[in-house]
Amino acid sequence: MLTRILIIIVLFSGCSALKDNNEKMNMPQRFDPLVEIISKKVSNTVQEFGDSTAYPRSTSREGKWKTGPIQSWTSGFFPGILWYMNELTGDSSFRKSAARWTEGLTPLQFYGGSHDIGFMVFCSFGNGYRLTQNAEYKKIILQTAITLTGRYNPTVGCIKSWDNRKWQYPVIIDNMMNLELLFWSSYNGGTRTMYDVAVKHAENTMQNHFRPDGSTYHVVNYDTTNGNVISKETHQGYSDSSCWSRGQAWAMYGFTMTYRYTKDERFLQTAQKAAEYYIAHLPDDHITYWDFNAPNIPNEPRDASSSSIAASALFELSGLVKNEASRKKFYDAAVSILESLTHKPYFSDQTKDVGILKYAVGNKPAGTEIDVSLIYGDYYFIEALMRFKQYQTGYTVKNAD
Ligand code: GLY
Repeated sequence: MLTRILIIIVLFSGCSALKDNNEKMNMPQRFDPLVEIISKKVSNTVQEFGDSTAYPRSTSREGKWKTGPIQSWTSGFFPGILWYMNELTGDSSFRKSAARWTEGLTPLQFYGGSHDIGFMVFCSFGNGYRLTQNAEYKKIILQTAITLTGRYNPTVGCIKSWDNRKWQYPVIIDNMMNLELLFWSSYNGGTRTMYDVAVKHAENTMQNHFRPDGSTYHVVNYDTTNGNVISKETHQGYSDSSCWSRGQAWAMYGFTMTYRYTKDERFLQTAQKAAEYYIAHLPDDHITYWDFNAPNIPNEPRDASSSSIAASALFELSGLVKNEASRKKFYDAAVSILESLTHKPYFSDQTKDVGILKYAVGNKPAGTEIDVSLIYGDYYFIEALMRFKQYQTGYTVKNAD
C-alpha cells in the first residue's frame, strides 16, 4: 500500500514538474495572453490618469503609480510603452495616448540639466518618429541631440552625468544609454560632432568603467583640468568594488547599441564581456539580485528591471555576434530571463497591480523603490517581448539608420 502511495506521489509530482516545464517552454503560445494582460494594465493607467500630464515612475506601497515631472529621468518610458503597445496590438487608442504623453515632453529639447534627455526623448519621440514619421518629432530629437552635446567636455572626453553632486565630473555607466539619441541623430540630419561625441564617450567608458572580469563600476569621477580619473565608485550599488546589476545591464545594452551604430568590433567585444559576466553570475531562476555582490544573497531583493534590460540587450546581442556558440548562449540566456519574468512572482497578471513586473529595485542604498514596479523595468520588458516575437518570425537587427 505504502509503495502504491509513493508511486502515486512520485507520478503526481512528476506530472506537475512536467507541467511546469511545459509551461516554461511554451512562450510562443503564451505570448498573446501576456500581451492581453499588459494591454489591460496600460489602458487602465491611461484611464486612471485622465488628462493629467504626470509621468508614471514607480509603484507605492499601496500599489499605485507614483509620478515624476517631465524633467525626471523616467518621463520618456510611459510614452514609449504606449508606442510599443500600439505597435504590438495595432490598437489606435494607444497611438493617441502615446502622442499626447510624448508631446508633453516637447520642452525637454532645450533642457540641458540632465544627461538623461537621451532616455527621455528617444524612448518617447524616437519611438514616435519610427512609427509615424512625424517631421515635428524628428526636429525635436535633433534639437535634443544638440542640447545633449552641450554636456560634453572635450578634455574629459565624456558627457557629464550629474550636476551639483559630490564629484567633480561624474560619468555613470547608465549614460551609455543616452548615446543612442546622438548616434541616431548623426545619421538622420544631425552633425558629425554628435557621432564623434558619442564614440569618444563610449571609448572612455570602455576604458575606465570596466574591471578585468567584465564587471563595471557605476560612477567614474574625472578631473576636468586634465581628463584623468580621480576615483571609481558606486552610487546605487552595494560598494565601490561591487557590481550593481542594473548598471551591468545598461553596459550590455549600451555597448550592443553602440556596436549597431558604429560596427566597431571593440564595442561588440565590450558588450560580450559585460554579457558574459552577467550570465555567469545569475541565480537559478535567472533573475539577478540588485547587486551581484550584495552581502546577504540569497536574502537580498531581486531587480527585475535589470533583468528586463538584460533580456532585451541579449536578444539584440545574439543577433550581432558572429560566433554560433555565443549567439546561442546569448539567445538562450535572453529566453530564460524572459521566461522567468513572465511567471510568478515577477509577472503580475492582477489588474489591481498597476505595474507589469514586480520586484524591481530603484535605489537600495538610499532605501527607496525596493520591491516595486518600475516604469523602465516594464518598458524594457515589453521591448524584450517584442524582440522575442521578432525572433520567432525572422529576426533582423535594426539598422543604424
Ligand atoms: N539611470 C538611473 C538608474 O538606472 O537608476
